[in-house]
Amino acid sequence: MLSLMSDVLIACLLPAMLLYLGVRLSLFDKEIFYSIWTDFLSLFRHSGKHNSSIYNAPFSAQTSLAAYSRYRSLSLEELSRMRASYISIGRTHKRIGYEIGYPRKLDRLAEIIEVNSKITDQVAALMKRRHSKEVSTTASTSRLGLGSPPNETSVDSRSLPRIREALKHFVRDWSNAGVSERSVIFEPILAALSVQSVSSRSEKRVLVPGSGLGRLAYEISQLGFDVTACELSGYMNGAFHFLLDPGTTRTVYQHEVHPYAHWWSHSRTATDLFRSVRFPDIVPRLAEDGQVGLHLKEGDFLTLDVPKSSDGYDFIVTLFFIDTSVNIISTLEKIHALLKPGGTWVNLGPLLWCSGAQARLELTLEEVFKVMDAVGFSLAGGRDGSDDDEPDCMKRCSIPCEYTRDEKAMMRWIYEAEFWVARKV
Ligand SMILES: C[S@@+](CC[C@H](N)C(=O)[O-])C[C@H]1O[C@@H](n2cnc3c(N)ncnc32)[C@H](O)[C@@H]1O
Repeated sequence: MLSLMSDVLIACLLPAMLLYLGVRLSLFDKEIFYSIWTDFLSLFRHSGKHNSSIYNAPFSAQTSLAAYSRYRSLSLEELSRMRASYISIGRTHKRIGYEIGYPRKLDRLAEIIEVNSKITDQVAALMKRRHSKEVSTTASTSRLGLGSPPNETSVDSRSLPRIREALKHFVRDWSNAGVSERSVIFEPILAALSVQSVSSRSEKRVLVPGSGLGRLAYEISQLGFDVTACELSGYMNGAFHFLLDPGTTRTVYQHEVHPYAHWWSHSRTATDLFRSVRFPDIVPRLAEDGQVGLHLKEGDFLTLDVPKSSDGYDFIVTLFFIDTSVNIISTLEKIHALLKPGGTWVNLGPLLWCSGAQARLELTLEEVFKVMDAVGFSLAGGRDGSDDDEPDCMKRCSIPCEYTRDEKAMMRWIYEAEFWVARKV
């Protein structure tokens, strides 16, 4: 009893003493006091083991499975709201609407929801099958975040856009329609990796954190490297497994999706809006454990360890990834820690921070380079690319590119993404 009381006393006194010390220090330096105070508060705010991303809950296997299961019903609810809006415009306007075919357009959307549901239902069924063991055992459900059945898991208004984003990724990553977008961003990365001699590639391990639907990781494996794709989001992993599993995808162009049907802005014609795209242009498969090829780790890359029996990855490749970090410094430190000494980091992206509460730091490119210096990276070719010892394909450059665009839309969003290669010092 006495020892319990003294424990409680210590637990209360320790923070108070820290605070007192902080106040005393503040007399000398306000910045030190502020830093101590915010660290002290963060003890209470973040009890988690590591500075992971807040992706975990909303992007968990459980939430995404529930969302895929409810794509049809959520989309039909949205369509009902669109019908109600149309009905509310008054008789004369409704007649004009009828003459230009607006009700038919709403009916067409209902048909398209059915077509897209064939995919989302299969993704959900596959996710359920893959995780069925885990769902039946409490211990592993907590590991995968699959606590309650999908129909009891709440999905919020952001779930539907996330499914639609995954549908657009089928097009960007795995269809002919995505070739032009892919080649602009993949080619510089593949060129930098291709400097490695062909004969040595199978011994080189490449990690692709935030691999999305996996096409870049697949292409790197096709160059002959041993590649580990790592993806946290259940939305992406569910969709990728749909392609990887012979039970759901056997042949090229087996599937059809209407990726643009849910976003009615910027469309020139209903034909453009409702067009379908067939996929996949290639059927991807994972390599067996221990074999060279493509591997997938589902989870947070911040929790990864260096591969067994090695001192780290030879290459880490990040594409549209580092700006999804909650804490970019942790991400850069992790990339550094996972690389072997002298290992190479290849990056391409536009620093589009998830602003608001998500990204705790939103750095400029210049600041990112300073953090890279501090963490222990050296930029191949130097910051201005003037170092002639490096081949051109390793030098920093700016690449205009797009991300899951609709090429027929009256809107283009072009990034000036930065490409760089850096080495672990
Ligand atoms: C903008 S997307 C880019 C995906 C892919 N690189 C591409 O270009 O298609 C960023 C991806 O990183 C994933 N991601 C974010 N934080 C992650 C983490 N800590 N571990 C693994 N994946 C993560 C997200 O789920 C998302 O799929």
